[in-house]
Order: sequence, then structure tokens, then C-alpha cells
Amino acid sequence: MASPYPSGDREKVASKLPPALKQALKIRAAELGLDIQVAVTAAVQDWRDADTVHSPVDTTGADSFSTWLPVGMYDDFKETCGQRDVSYIQGLAQAVRRWLDVNPSPSDRPAGGIAERKIVCNQKGGVGKTTTSAGIAQAYAEDGKRVLLVDYDPQGHLTQQLGHHQTPPGEDSLVSHMCSEGTGDLRDLIITIEDPRFEKRLHLMPSCFDGFLLDARVGVKAVQARGFQKEAALEKALLAVESEYDVIVVDCPPSLGIAMDAALYYGRRRDGEAAGVSGVIIPVLAEDSSATAYGMLAGQIEDLRMDLRLNIDYLGLVVNMYDSRRGAVATSSLQSWRDLGDPPVLAVIGDLKEQREAVRKMMPLLSYAPLSEQAEAMRQIARRVTA
Ligand SMILES: Nc1ncnc2c1ncn2[C@@H]1O[C@H](COP(=O)(O)OP(=O)(O)OP(=O)(O)O)[C@@H](O)[C@H]1O
Ligand SMILES: [Mg+2]
Repeated sequence: MASPYPSGDREKVASKLPPALKQALKIRAAELGLDIQVAVTAAVQDWRDADTVHSPVDTTGADSFSTWLPVGMYDDFKETCGQRDVSYIQGLAQAVRRWLDVNPSPSDRPAGGIAERKIVCNQKGGVGKTTTSAGIAQAYAEDGKRVLLVDYDPQGHLTQQLGHHQTPPGEDSLVSHMCSEGTGDLRDLIITIEDPRFEKRLHLMPSCFDGFLLDARVGVKAVQARGFQKEAALEKALLAVESEYDVIVVDCPPSLGIAMDAALYYGRRRDGEAAGVSGVIIPVLAEDSSATAYGMLAGQIEDLRMDLRLNIDYLGLVVNMYDSRRGAVATSSLQSWRDLGDPPVLAVIGDLKEQREAVRKMMPLLSYAPLSEQAEAMRQIARRVTA
């Protein structure tokens, strides 16, 4: 049963949940600093997206539970319940149970593990790499994790969008550290994003203009300096600060080459690290040229995997700026991304106004529009690709 939300973008949903599940949901949402409606929205979305078989949940004694969901979501949810042949109450219970499982209490998290590395890449321009990098980094920081967001793109969009400046040419920067030519402590380059929502847990490594010459500089260094491994350049630089973070997100430039190899190498699965935690996240569009670009990127990843015998995990695709009104090209292209199966589609995100508004205001999206569909999509992606 649904009735309209006062602001119009959410509708009230009345259903039932077993009391124990309701209580656990309330406590976990509070521990994670989330509104219940945000948690349930994520739970429902995630349950609908997950193609795995869901174990039945005991719903004996379920009593009334109501919340607010984005308009239309409950209808979609009911349709999925029909396809999976479960009652709406059972479907909701499964969604909440799954959400609790994938969002452990912060007090249960292991301390001092390897920092998770998410490499957000695609050499095709304008597909949403910067948007996705910033969004998931904010989602992790909101969730209590210490996050370093690396602007690895000399265009510096991410740095500018967060209200900061790029490092001028010739100054100490991530690039100079990558080339073993750093003149100071890498920590001194890192900026804390001052926003109460992230409680000083979200940090930015700003972009530098010298990044435009990165391939050439790393290439020259590899010839001049014995033992300098160009693919390991990013890792070598970031190792100095890695232990201070739970998650490191790298926003890659729209190019393939040595810099990209260094980012892929940095995102490889290390010894002792579980599969599917560090690796690449690839934002794509639902159009044919995106498939060609994806093929080229996959080729580079394959080459690096073979040449250096690396495990590089594909964490998933983000189908961005999706608009079904564009007709069969969009819908069939989305279906092709889904048909890949591996990598999975982590989220399908529409062409949404909040993203552009946040950029114009130079504000983090999750702070500018915390309850927006896009903010929730970012949380969903972050949750699906974490330890
Ligand atoms: N879902 C969305 N809805 C609306 N606008 C979006 C969305 N995602 C991204 N944008 C906007 O589209 C533009 C391109 O996005 P973004 O900068 O994230 O792409 P990119 O892949 O990082 O680009 P580049 O290859 O130049 O680095 C930006 O203006 C961004 O604000
Ligand atoms: Mg970008």
C-alpha cells in the first residue's frame, strides 16, 4: 500500500516486518548514521538487482512497518516479488536481511587490513568516472571508513569540483613521487574535505598539471633508473600513506597507456586479499561506442594480466546517464551490458539533475543531495564492492 510523500519524490509504503528484523534495521541504520528510509531504499534496490537465490526468512509474527521509498520503487519491488514467487512481506524481509548482512556493524569490522583499492577507469571521455569516484568515496566515508580519493587525471575535474586547485607544474606532486623525484612528504599534498557529513574521513590527493607528461616521465625514468618498474610507480608513491586509509579510490583520466597500467597494477589483487574487493570499476554508457571502448580497456587489462601474471578483478560496470526514452539503442545496449554477467552491472543511473547541480555548487553530491536517487546509487555501488 503506498500514499504520496509530502515533497512528492517519495511515497509512503505500508508493509510488515518481523519485530527482530525491524529492531536490527533500526539499530544498524543508527550505527551507520543513515535514515531508515535510505537503508530500506538501498535494501530493496539491492535485493532487486541481485540475481542470486535468496534464502527464505521466517516472517512469523511480522507486524506493521512503514517507510518512504522513491516514487515507483514499491511497484517495481512488487513486480520482482511476483517474478520470484514470494509474498511482499517475504520479499521485504529478504531485502532487509540481505542489507544487514552486507552492511555489518562498524564494531564488527576487522581493523588494520589492507586498504581496498578501487580503480575507476574507462578511456572513453565523459562517461562518469569522476562522478562515480567521488560518489563512492563519499559513500565509504559516510559509512565510517577513512578514504583517500586520488585525482589521477591531469584535467583536474575532481579537484576543481571539490573546490580545490591543481598542483602547478614543477611542484612536488603525486607525479614527482611516482617518478621517485618527490621533494617532500606525500602527506603534505593531501587535503581533508571539510564537510561535517564525512567527519574529516574523506581526503583528496589533488591532480597536478604534470600528469599530462606522466607517461613520458615514467617511461624515461624506467630507461634511466635500473630496477624502476613503471607499472609499480603509483603503488610505490601511495604506499607511504596507504596504511592510514580503509579505502583508496583512483579517478583515472580518459586514456590508455603507462599511467593506466600503473593504476591497474595498483588495483590488482594482492596476496592475502579476498577476490572482488580491490579492482576496476568501469562506468559506461548505454550506447554502441561504449562497447568498443570497453573492448579496448578489457584488452589492456588482459595484456597486463598475462604479461605480469596479475589478478586484476573486475568489480563491475556502472551504466550511467541511462535514458530509456532514447529507444532501442539504449535498451538493447543496457541488456548487452547485463548479459555480460561478469563483470556485473553494479547500478544503472539515470540522467539526473542533482549531479550537475552539486558540481556547479562545488559540493560533494552526498552532502548536497543526500537522499537523491544518485546518492543512493553511489551507496549501493560502494556496498556491493567492499570486503
Ligand atoms: N548520472 C548523471 N546524470 C547527470 N549528469 C551526469 C551524470 N553522471 C555524470 N554527469 C555529468 O556528466 C559530465 C561527465 O561526467 P564525469 O566528469 O564524471 O565523466 P568522466 O568520465 O570523468 O569524464 P572525463 O573522461 O572527461 O574524465 C559531468 O558534467 C557530470 O556532472
Ligand atoms: Mg573525469
